Amino acid sequence: MQIIFVPERGHALTVSLFSKALLVVVASSLLFVFSSNLNAQAVLEEMDWAYAISPIFPAEEDDGTLYSLPGSEGRFTLNEARNRFGPADWYPQDHLPMPSIVAIGREAAGIMACSLCHYPTGQGKPENASVVGLEPGYFKQQLQDMRDGLRGSANTAKANTAMMMAFAVNMTDEEIEQAAEYYGAMDWNQWIEVVETDTVPLTFRRGGLHIPLEGDAAGEEPIGRRIIEMPVDPEGTELLRNPRAGFRALVPIGAVAAGEAMATTGGDKSIACAICHGEQLQGLGQVPALRGRSPSYLARQLFDFQQGTRQGVWSPLMDAVVENLTGDDIINLTAYLGSLPAEF
Ligand code: HEC
Ligand code: HEC
Repeated sequence: MQIIFVPERGHALTVSLFSKALLVVVASSLLFVFSSNLNAQAVLEEMDWAYAISPIFPAEEDDGTLYSLPGSEGRFTLNEARNRFGPADWYPQDHLPMPSIVAIGREAAGIMACSLCHYPTGQGKPENASVVGLEPGYFKQQLQDMRDGLRGSANTAKANTAMMMAFAVNMTDEEIEQAAEYYGAMDWNQWIEVVETDTVPLTFRRGGLHIPLEGDAAGEEPIGRRIIEMPVDPEGTELLRNPRAGFRALVPIGAVAAGEAMATTGGDKSIACAICHGEQLQGLGQVPALRGRSPSYLARQLFDFQQGTRQGVWSPLMDAVVENLTGDDIINLTAYLGSLPAEF
């Protein structure tokens, strides 16, 4: 326990005593900052919402039924829709021709199709990542960091992040190049709606997603200090991987304004994001875009940086940004970033 000594007005201190006292104040507040960091940092428990670690459910049986989605000419069975080495491409008109690593992966090396989790469009699901519109240099650096064991999840129970690291290790340089060029050549589109609220639907977790309960089990509960990000079309997202159905992130009231204040000035704990991420947080050179992206994804990254499990070649630039963030700060920042429209 540190006690900061602040000389009171009218205290009978000589000038030299006063400067000694000042030294003590400075030294002890430095110590205070240092030792209280551990307390001021976010902790895994309060970040639970962002990871949504889920029990394993048995997969729905494929009874041969052919499914369709609005505006798609494709008809696929469940097994076709979720095929790890060539999932359904519902809307080929929505994206460029996919390189084979994106469309089917490489089964012999255990690399699943990138399109399975990030979708052919790269808009992706929040338990994974959005990868569309990332500058290819940044994209490649991330895969290199994963290969080098420099990027991993602060939550060791997050199985899909571990899978992602393994894919990066097994990918060839050429496959990395092709995936980076492919996703980098397309634009990020509006995908997430951020809504401030006091209450949220009762949800359960499946596959790293929060899914609203239905029927008799449906209900509401206070949001607390959480962000609950849910698919707009739960069945379409979960079963069929509908790449046109986005997400809604329910955030605590006041989070967006608090996040904006911290993001724009850095407050007394952080650094203004626009300095590196660009005026509109649209990304700048190799520094990635933040606007309109999934709050859960962004929150995991901030926590991973803070906990030191994401320590890639460029990550040190984020050190001073995240060092003193609490779980609440992370909620506010990512609610604000998610609320910025993709187009500006
Ligand atoms: C099983 C699902 C899955 C598959 C398949 C998958 N990824 Fe990922 N990807 C993830 C997860 C999970 C993350 C990291 C999310 C986290 O840790 O919060 C990620 C992150 C990324 C990132 C970092 C994005 C950023 O903004 O920093 C890139 C780049 C990426 N993946 C590329 C690929 C490529 C290329 C492929 C195809 C070879 C691929 N992924 C296949 C799940 C997947
Ligand atoms: C001094 C420069 C700098 C500042 C200031 C900065 N960032 Fe970053 N940020 C980076 C760099 C560089 C990366 C890429 C790190 C890497 O490759 O590991 C990054 C990555 C990120 C990521 C991960 C994105 C992804 O796609 O995985 C998030 C989230 C992020 N920053 C949030 C913020 C927020 C929020 C702020 C302001 C409060 C901020 N940053 C301020 C340099 C900065």
